[in-house]
Amino acid sequence: MKEVTFKINGQEMTVPEGTTILEAARQCNIDIPTLCYLKDVNEIGACRMCLVEIAGARALQAACVYPVANGIEVLTNTPNVREARRVNLELILSNHNRECTTCIRSENCELQTLATDLGVSEVPFEGEVSGTLVDDKSDSIVRDESKCILCKRCVAVCGDVQNVAVLGSVGRGFTSQVQPVFGRSLADVGCIRCGQCIVNCPVGALKEKSSIQEVWDAIADPTKTVIVETAPAVRASLGEEFGYPMGTPVTDQMAAALRRLGFDKVFDTGFGADVTIMEEGTELLGRVTNGGVLPMITSCSPGWISYIETNYPEFLPHLSTCKSPQQITGALLKSHYAETNGIDPKDMVVVSVMPCTAKKYELKREELKVDGIPDVDISITTRELARMIKEARIMFDQLPKEEFDDYYGEYTGAAVIFGATGGVMEAAVRTLADILNKKDIQAIDYEMVRGVQGIKTATVDVTPDLAVKLLVASGGSNIEKVMQQLKAGELADTHFIELMGCPGGCVNGGGQSIVPAKDKMDIDIRAERAKALYVSDAKITKYRKSHQSPAVIRIYDEYLGEPNGHKSHHLLHTTYSQKPKLV
Ligand code: FES
Repeated sequence: MKEVTFKINGQEMTVPEGTTILEAARQCNIDIPTLCYLKDVNEIGACRMCLVEIAGARALQAACVYPVANGIEVLTNTPNVREARRVNLELILSNHNRECTTCIRSENCELQTLATDLGVSEVPFEGEVSGTLVDDKSDSIVRDESKCILCKRCVAVCGDVQNVAVLGSVGRGFTSQVQPVFGRSLADVGCIRCGQCIVNCPVGALKEKSSIQEVWDAIADPTKTVIVETAPAVRASLGEEFGYPMGTPVTDQMAAALRRLGFDKVFDTGFGADVTIMEEGTELLGRVTNGGVLPMITSCSPGWISYIETNYPEFLPHLSTCKSPQQITGALLKSHYAETNGIDPKDMVVVSVMPCTAKKYELKREELKVDGIPDVDISITTRELARMIKEARIMFDQLPKEEFDDYYGEYTGAAVIFGATGGVMEAAVRTLADILNKKDIQAIDYEMVRGVQGIKTATVDVTPDLAVKLLVASGGSNIEKVMQQLKAGELADTHFIELMGCPGGCVNGGGQSIVPAKDKMDIDIRAERAKALYVSDAKITKYRKSHQSPAVIRIYDEYLGEPNGHKSHHLLHTTYSQKPKLV
């Protein structure tokens, strides 16, 4: 690899050719401010916050897109540089709704942080602003044009990472806007509600549609039994909202906090994830042995479901008919739990805490209701749960460690790893291998399906006579590649495919804690959070295979009968159908 040598603030450095000034500066601990830059995703040099001086050159240059060249001398802290950055920031602020004290992103806003860091305490430019629309028609996402700073990070993520491309730039100069196509609402375009635009927005221009008040109202209603279920990935990110290092599992403190918020029962979606494995694994075995439609594709991710329903309806028969763990847990709470505890399901409110914004939409889908009753009533994100804990003035870091409530709070390590890409696949293979070999197999860490790569393939010898071919992918653009392969007939010998709408799976879901772009330059949040789940799987949970869970054994003995049986099909399975493709 060719290298180049240059100087930065008087310090000589040698870096690979093609390295930008921003990347090179970081290697020698020189921090250059950024705003529109999103590593590997949005490198467009739009905001001009990263301007630096090149000795002898007339114009300042954007460090995020300027590659270092042999012999240049870069200066990152001259009067010219400081003045240019400050004026650029003042101009951005002049067109930004600065109601910071009531903004959901206050104290986690990259623009606010920059204003503080660069010493901007007033904005000399005042006048007309270019956007005022607040679009809250979507079930999941609210878009506030008055806060948009035109960094286009959402455009790049939606288009290049997720392959959804419903956001784009319109207009020129002062009339520039980032909007859904044709100026429509997000609800009226092909948005899959993944929320990746939210977690990559530097300011409060995009946020989830809040369901917090609905939860407070339910808790305050004495006629309602309010039950909460929490998804595996939530425990891997919630701690970040309270200052814990990324990747710290906070399962036990979370259970304690939920109890103090006033929920009548604190259960875990991991219970439903274990049941999912029983149902999905049985479905896969049935398809393999009876010549059913293969490859079978997972159906846990509502973003992915929206993607296939609108873009590839001809492949819907490949989907597992299993509902997602959120819905399975809810369906069993509204049926078995309600019956055994003498509760009318109409008096029960099931609240889910999810790493996902699309779950707010999923729970409303008619196809998922059982006899007209929704499995889950309200879904809140990891961020919304953190806000509730803060509003209730619960001192999260002082909470004792508590466990989930019995039976529906039980889950295995296999369920916990559902939150990471490859986790559903690994959980399924653990159970399939045991059942087919009729023994308790000890080597169950299927490393070949772990890790953050966008697409992973593996062949696992589940029995001496059966080699199962697997594929795992996450993120819309990787899903698109897989679907193109499927369409071309290249996956005809694959048995099972796990697809998750968000890159890295649920740990990096659109409802998780928001990490500044600067931090994402140094850490891979997908890998860090996944670690929390794998640690829980290996060290914390008592059982590591879904079929060994006493709660799972009990629900089949007491209520469901057998996986894929009549009752399961009524409660836990669904159908999917083609949805109109909105541009
Ligand atoms: Fe470099 Fe925006 S122009 S961060």
